[in-house]
Amino acid sequence: MQKFITENSKDPPWPKPKPYTANIFKRLFRGWNSWLGFLNEWDYRIKLGELNILGLPVFLVNDANLVRRVLIDEVDNFPKHPYTLWILEPLIGRAIFSVNGEEWAFQRRLIDQAFQIANLKRVFPSMSLATESLFKRIKKSNNLSFLNIDKEITLVTADVIIRTILSRELEQEEANNIFQAFSRYQKNAGRVLIFRFLRLPKKFIQSTLNKDALLIRTWIQKIISNRLEEYKHRKERFIPPRDLLDSLIQAKDQKTNKSFSERELIDQVCFLFLAGHETSASSLGMALWLVAFDSRVQNLMREEVDSVVGERGLDEMLGVEDIRKLQYCGAVFNETLRLYPPVTFFIRARSQSNTNFEVDKHKSRCPLGALLTLSPWVIHRHENHWTEPNKFVPERFLGNNFESLRRNIFLPFGLGPRKCPGASFAQQEAILILAEFIRRYNVSQVKAHVPNLIGFLTLRTNNGIYLNLSPRS
Ligand code: HEM
Repeated sequence: MQKFITENSKDPPWPKPKPYTANIFKRLFRGWNSWLGFLNEWDYRIKLGELNILGLPVFLVNDANLVRRVLIDEVDNFPKHPYTLWILEPLIGRAIFSVNGEEWAFQRRLIDQAFQIANLKRVFPSMSLATESLFKRIKKSNNLSFLNIDKEITLVTADVIIRTILSRELEQEEANNIFQAFSRYQKNAGRVLIFRFLRLPKKFIQSTLNKDALLIRTWIQKIISNRLEEYKHRKERFIPPRDLLDSLIQAKDQKTNKSFSERELIDQVCFLFLAGHETSASSLGMALWLVAFDSRVQNLMREEVDSVVGERGLDEMLGVEDIRKLQYCGAVFNETLRLYPPVTFFIRARSQSNTNFEVDKHKSRCPLGALLTLSPWVIHRHENHWTEPNKFVPERFLGNNFESLRRNIFLPFGLGPRKCPGASFAQQEAILILAEFIRRYNVSQVKAHVPNLIGFLTLRTNNGIYLNLSPRS
C-alpha cells in the first residue's frame, strides 16, 4: 500500500481499544460511559465479528462486500433494528430515521422533495448569517488563547439549523435550555442499548428519556402550530418557502397524494434538529482540532482559501460558488469524518428468514432477528481498508486516491437508499465555517489539552475542545 508523507508523526488522539475479552459483562461495563469502550483491539482487524449478548446474536460487519450487501443490495432484508425506535421514539416519534417499509418510503419521498425545494443555494444565506454571528461572538471573547471551540461550534451549528428549519435566530436562553436537553437526551439514549441488552422493560427504559424529550417537543410543537395557523389564514397553500419547515409543509407525495400531518411534522423537525445539529457540531469541532494539530494542512487550506478570496475583505463572506472551489478544505472535512465519524455506529436487524454470511469461504449463520452493527468508526480505522488508518491525511480524498470511496468503506453518511439526505447540506456548512476560520485566525493547539472522545448517539468530547486563536495580520 502507498505510504503517505505527513508532517506530524503522531496519530491524532483516539480512545485506544482495549485488549480482547470474551466476557460480555466486562465489555458492557467498559461501554457504560462510551460505547467505544465496548470494542476490543481485535474488532479493528476482523472482517466479521460474532457474539452472543444474553441470548441475542450480534454481528459486527466490517467486510466491504458484506457492508454492501446489508446497506445496498439487500436493504429490505436488513431493516433498521427495532432498538433504533426504542432509543429515539420519545424524542422523534416515528420519524424517518427509525421506521421501515412503506412508512419509511413515504417519509423519504417527502423529505427528499422538501430538501429539493429548500435547496443548498436557498439555505446558504442563513448559514452565512449564522457564521457571521459566530465571528462576532468570538471577537468579543477575551480569552482567544484558550477558547472552548466546542462550545462555539455547538452554538453556530444550532444557529444554522434553527435559521434553516424555522427561520428563527438563536436566542441565548432558548438555545441553552433546548440544546442542553438534546445533549442530555443523547447521553442517556446511548445507555438505553445497554439497558435493553440487560432485558429491562421498554417502559422503564424510555422513562429515562421522557423529560428531556417533552421539553424539546413542546417547544417545537408551539412553533409548528403557529406556522400551520398562519397557513390557515392564507388563501393559497403555496407560498415561496422561507425555510425547511415551509418546504416540509408544502411537500406532497405523488403516490399517495398525502402531505405530513401536524404530528408527523413535529416528529420530522425534532429529528432534523437532532440529525443536523449534533452531527455537524461533532465533526466541525474535531475538524478545527485537526487543523490546529497539523500546520502543514492548515497552510495548504489557507493557500487555497486565500486564492479563492483574492482581494476581498473579511466583511465580504464567502459565497456559495466559492465553497465549491475549496477542494482541499473539502478533503480536510472528509478526512475528519473518516477519523471522527459523528455517527459511530448504526444497527440493522435480519428480517425475513435465516441467512448465511460468507467471508473468505467461511460461512456464519445469521439467524432471523439477529442484530447487525455497522460502525463507520471501526470500518474507517480498519487495517484492511486504509493505509495508516490512524493518521490524518486529507490527500486520501483528492484525485485518484478518492477511489477508496467506491469500495463501501467510507460511510460517515451511511450508504444506499437510507443514506443521509443532509450530506451536502452538512458539507456546505462545514466548508463555509472552516474556511472563514482559516481566513481570520491562525489556529493552534493548547498545550496539555487533548479532547476526550465519548461515543453515544453521536461522537462528542466530555472535556471540550480548547484552541488558541491568533488573528491573522
Ligand atoms: C456531518 C453531518 C452529518 C452526518 C455525519 C450524518 C450522518 C447520517 C447517517 C450515518 C445516517 C444514516 C444512518 C443509517 O443508515 O442508519 C443519516 C441519516 C439521516 N440524516 Fe444525516 N448526517 C449529518 C447531517 C445531517 C443533516 C444536516 C441533516 C438535515 C438537516 C440530516 C438528515 C438526515 C436524515 C433525514 C436521515 C434519515 C434518512 C433515512 O432514514 O432515510 N443529516 N445521517
